[in-house]
Amino acid sequence: DQTRQIAETLAEFRLTQEQLMEVKKRMLTEIQNGLSKNTQSTATVKMLPTYVRSTPDGTENGDFLALDLGGTNFRVLLVKIRSGKKRMVEMHNKIYAIPIEVMQGTGEELFDHIVTCISDFLDYMGMKKARLPLGFTFSFPCRQTSLDAGILVNWTKGFKATDCEGEDVVNLLREGIKRREFDLDVVAVVNDTVGTMMTCAYEEPTCEVGLIAGTGSNACYMEEMRNIETVEGNEGRMCVNMEWGAFGDNGCLDDIRTQYDTAVDDLSLNPGKQRYEKMCSGMYLGEIVRNILIDLTKRGFLFRGQISETLKTRGIFETKFLSQIESDRLALLQVRSILQHLGLDSTCDDSIIVKEVCGTVSRRAARICGAGMAAVVDKIRENRGLDHLDITVGVDGTLYKLHPHFSRIMHQTVRDLAPKCNVNFLLSEDGSGKGAALITAVGCRLREQEQ
Ligand code: BG6
Ligand code: GLC
Repeated sequence: DQTRQIAETLAEFRLTQEQLMEVKKRMLTEIQNGLSKNTQSTATVKMLPTYVRSTPDGTENGDFLALDLGGTNFRVLLVKIRSGKKRMVEMHNKIYAIPIEVMQGTGEELFDHIVTCISDFLDYMGMKKARLPLGFTFSFPCRQTSLDAGILVNWTKGFKATDCEGEDVVNLLREGIKRREFDLDVVAVVNDTVGTMMTCAYEEPTCEVGLIAGTGSNACYMEEMRNIETVEGNEGRMCVNMEWGAFGDNGCLDDIRTQYDTAVDDLSLNPGKQRYEKMCSGMYLGEIVRNILIDLTKRGFLFRGQISETLKTRGIFETKFLSQIESDRLALLQVRSILQHLGLDSTCDDSIIVKEVCGTVSRRAARICGAGMAAVVDKIRENRGLDHLDITVGVDGTLYKLHPHFSRIMHQTVRDLAPKCNVNFLLSEDGSGKGAALITAVGCRLREQEQ
């Protein structure tokens, strides 16, 4: 009976093929709403223009600084790009911590901290005096009017610094730099999906989509200018940052959300927002698991019915722990030792249940992420009037990289739901800083041409 009740609880997470096809279809509707002029202002999937009009062509050249803010790590990078026959990219980078008080303090504190890190990096590289062009990978929704202007629509994930929403983050960065009395030339603000697409496209020209399955979840792709009604002009293409994490914020996914998704949403920094992201990204999967475990414990099926302080602690199941628990190479005894390490005393039966809960939650995540991607590649195929599309998706993110099953299940779902597309997934090896530098290189060239 206990087994049956646990199975019933988890059954809600097991979506049918029909439900997944429905998710894909709804994503296509929301994409359309985000692109069209008359529905744009209320659209949940915002489809933000990036002013990136092409993928790299190998002529990019120069030395650049890049910042990478918004994923697990904050990095400052020096990227040297050489064009021509001996095309190459050389990178140096340093990771800096962003304490939670800074993520959720004032905007001024956040940008002062960022500038302090840049300054430290320049010292470390022995190039304090250099005035290099800088590309700012800022992995949050920004409304751009050019390559170097981006108004933060709202924070997502773990950030909540005051006085930033509604502001141009390039200005905030420039002001921070001025306060420190040094000089840098901020040329581009770039979403991580776009940086990732560009990084991969430098090696593989068929890469015209970027995907992040990490702390957050999002995608971008090259859309036809004629379809982007919010930007003047009909020629060529422009990369659109979808901000698909907000898919479902109008209630269109309510029929597949569970009570556990609602609980995770309610306790988050941004209740009601980023509902799709909260079902499929690393920052939230562990929280869904934790909420299920609490419920199963309350019902007496786990941990001898005892809800420990640990189980009440938000954020205990980081992506890396879920990934370890679900690893097939691990014996149950090792699962128990991971749980023990987290402060959870488990029996052998407990560890079997925990592993099953994790597997169910991450499988649903991979499948709905795949359903979203199927919508994107089919949209590109239809844009180009093709019966069959070959395309490459550049991917990054700890969930994609560390989890033992996520990528495989996601790939399979895309194959099932977009059978007319042959999708090649390419892992971004160098993060998105390289892509940001490539965009900055193009930005510098355009500027010179304008002068
Ligand atoms: C990194 C990219 O490799 O992946 C970042 O350089 C990106 O720009 C990050 O935000 C996403 O993954 P995660 O798991 O760190 O959020
Ligand atoms: C969140 C952000 C988005 C970013 C994604 C992945 O969804 O809003 O801009 O691309 O996380 O980091």
